[in-house]
Amino acid sequence: MRLILAATALSLTFAGVAFAQQPVPPGEQPVEPYVQSNANAGATPMRDKAVLEAFHGKEGIARITSDLVDRNIADPRIKDIFATADVVRLKRTLSEQFCYILAGPASDGGCDYTGKDMSATHQYQGITPRDFNILVENLQKAMDKEGVPFAAQNKLLAKLAPMSRQVIERR
Ligand code: HEM
Repeated sequence: MRLILAATALSLTFAGVAFAQQPVPPGEQPVEPYVQSNANAGATPMRDKAVLEAFHGKEGIARITSDLVDRNIADPRIKDIFATADVVRLKRTLSEQFCYILAGPASDGGCDYTGKDMSATHQYQGITPRDFNILVENLQKAMDKEGVPFAAQNKLLAKLAPMSRQVIERR
């Protein structure tokens, strides 16, 4: 009995720590606890100052990711997939992810990615290669709108392309 009580107290402590690490930011829905790590971003940072400048720094990245999410939720071809998504959280984590990939971690002046890994996030969404291509098309439009030159656009796309293996679920 004492053992069960001790185990319960211990697991509550761990749960408490997990929740304490993940306060719910304003406007977002709570999520089940998970281990946060920049490794969840699914790609290593580029660390190319010229590319970061081409994206107009963190502010430019935030504009692009916000515009990308707006395009996806309004796109009749894929909007149903986003019907239950937490848009506020999606915009924040996507911006962190792109910033981490383009500028490196916060300790290097970039951003830390606090979202889930790409497999866990996209599991059970039934995403197809066509859905993936549509999202990339919307990302290209968002980068065009920000005035990011093609060469820099392609550097980011090259980092995202291998993630299709974790994101696409059916063919
Ligand atoms: C390389 C391509 C992609 C990247 C880098 C990416 C990145 C992300 C990130 C960072 C999140 C938020 C993770 C979190 O909440 O912790 C997310 C969520 C989501 N993504 Fe993607 N994604 C990609 C492709 C796609 C595609 C092709 C679709 C569908 C057309 C899609 C649909 C979604 C949806 C619906 C969510 C919200 C899930 C939820 O709120 O439960 N993603 N994605």
